Amino acid sequence: MKKTSIATYLLASLVLTLGCHEKLLSNSGPDTLTLPLKGNQYVLNTDQVVAPIQPTMYGIFFEDINFGADGGLYAELVKNRSFEFAEPMMGWEQPASDRFSMNDKSGFAVPVKYADPGANKNYLNVKVNAPAGYRLENTGFRGMGFKQGVDYHLSLSARQLEGGTTLYVELLDEQNKVLALAPITLSGNSWKEYTATLKPSARAMKGKLHIRFEGKGVVDLDQVSLFPSDTWKNRPRGLRADLVQLLADLKPGFLRFPGGCIVEGRTLAQRYQWKKTVGDVDERELLINRWNTEFAHRPAPDYFQTFGLGFFEYFQLAEDIGATPLPILSCGMACQFNTAELVPMEELQPYVQDALDLIEFANGPVTSPWGKLRSDMGRPAPFNMKFIGIGNEQWGPEYIKRYKVFEKAIKEKYPDIVIVSGAGPFPDGEMFEYGMEELKAMNAEIVDEHYYRAPQWFLENANRYDSYDRKGPKIFAGEYAAQSVAIASPDNKNNWNCALAEAAFMTGLERNADVVYLTSYAPLLAHAEGWQWTPDLIWFNNLEAYGTPNYYVQKLFANNAGTHLLKITEDGQPIIGQNGVYATATMDEKNKELVFKIVNATGAEQPISIKLDGKKKTTTKGTLTVLAANDKDAVNSFENPQGISPISKEVGFKGKTIEMSVGAMSLNVLRVPYKN
Ligand code: AHR
Repeated sequence: MKKTSIATYLLASLVLTLGCHEKLLSNSGPDTLTLPLKGNQYVLNTDQVVAPIQPTMYGIFFEDINFGADGGLYAELVKNRSFEFAEPMMGWEQPASDRFSMNDKSGFAVPVKYADPGANKNYLNVKVNAPAGYRLENTGFRGMGFKQGVDYHLSLSARQLEGGTTLYVELLDEQNKVLALAPITLSGNSWKEYTATLKPSARAMKGKLHIRFEGKGVVDLDQVSLFPSDTWKNRPRGLRADLVQLLADLKPGFLRFPGGCIVEGRTLAQRYQWKKTVGDVDERELLINRWNTEFAHRPAPDYFQTFGLGFFEYFQLAEDIGATPLPILSCGMACQFNTAELVPMEELQPYVQDALDLIEFANGPVTSPWGKLRSDMGRPAPFNMKFIGIGNEQWGPEYIKRYKVFEKAIKEKYPDIVIVSGAGPFPDGEMFEYGMEELKAMNAEIVDEHYYRAPQWFLENANRYDSYDRKGPKIFAGEYAAQSVAIASPDNKNNWNCALAEAAFMTGLERNADVVYLTSYAPLLAHAEGWQWTPDLIWFNNLEAYGTPNYYVQKLFANNAGTHLLKITEDGQPIIGQNGVYATATMDEKNKELVFKIVNATGAEQPISIKLDGKKKTTTKGTLTVLAANDKDAVNSFENPQGISPISKEVGFKGKTIEMSVGAMSLNVLRVPYKN
């Protein structure tokens, strides 16, 4: 396969998508229909369990794309805190007049390499010429968000080489009004950590940090860091609580991390290496973020990975939100859309060892080398990792060859770990077919499939797994999202049309819960000004975040998964778009409820009747939760974050037939209590 870029792939994929699904051209999808209303008369056998719903059925996919980690979930406010970016002063400003003169009247700063550098290679040397006036400014990731009255913890490493200097750390708003100030007096010429706590007197959406220097002298600076105190679980240097809460509210069955293409890297050297993301945060080696340069239309030259959110923190996050951790590792193939660099087979062993060591890091005893590191990081108990993914969007014989080596080594040492393999970037076509056939022949356990397609594709593929070979590998629908314009088009919107099409498709995933074990929308997070890829499940700025309509679809499915799949039919057939309606039914054994999910993808309200066969005694009351909008282009926004969000009400019906109507363009979740 010719080496190419993701942009080329996107174009090719767009042509493919348009070719197969002409409706994308008109961006049709749910539309007003004149219905042949024979009615929608369904039957549910309440006793006939088809399969258990896996606890992992609805999960989340996390990747540091769109400032998802640095600049997003990871609450650090200082960009380039240790002067390690390719341009070490990127993100830092000093007074304009100072830049071009070594002898400026206020001062001058230059990055310097440590004589014996480890992961932390640079520091900043600051010469303060005037008793007052010199300052450094950091504007964070598209500004810093400050909340009034919340403590912000600043820390920095410094040494005073000459003279005597006091630093004034200041939080400023957009108009340069000082919202908080604290002095730091330096002492001694050896490196020390200094801290200050700052409480802004007002809110600022695009604030900044100033370090003002008073007193002539020479100062070295490093690791300048600023975190809010109100992080998730108030963990020092932790995660943004509002974003984690949105994730926790999904009640995800698993957390896949750290991607995505970021796992693979544009080159092998730029692949994600988990071992470089654990241990002392200040010693984690910075890496360029692959999305820094990926899209010419959305360049992000200041996008790097500090790995402050590293593998330990991912495991911790997964546990916090009740999700099974699902790490994905490089299989020795760089992104095939970029360099497609391959590690030779005889040099694959270190990659395999990374996988084995990761299992030890997560689950091993504290007496094992990697288990000890986990324990040293504050976590003696194992993380109970059960899954590992090998490769992201790989395809072709080179992947299969490498995957086999991983599989053998992992199963020999850890037979109970379930391995996730991949079917490549597309849900069909030659490379997909090849991969699936090979993986099936090998009895692969779970295969990761990706679908970035037009809304129409999702409607038409709600039956995708109805005729899937039940002896084949289980399915991980690992990345999917309906694209309102075209794959990775910057004009894609998280509109109701896309969300509703995904909901229709998800009934198909759920109806096939005997083979579909894990599913996740992608990507997860996007900074409103720092994004590269749209659509995304959750959008945020420096202080706020909102769930898209797609988020609420995910939430409704995940919060109402049920424990067992039941069989709901119309004339003996699954409900996969007859009259534009899609439906599934599950049973929630814990809460003793029947759970129906009904998607009406048409523009007309429709009557539904569900006859309940079976021995279960159902009540005549239920709770109906509706997610709907009457405009298929409707979106949520910072101004109207819950414009499209679920509304619940009590409903009643008579006897053993549920009569109800489902509104135009709606997802309906009905929960009906039962007794055995
Ligand atoms: O979700 C964005 C990207 O889409 C992922 O990194 C990659 O796996 C897929 O191509």
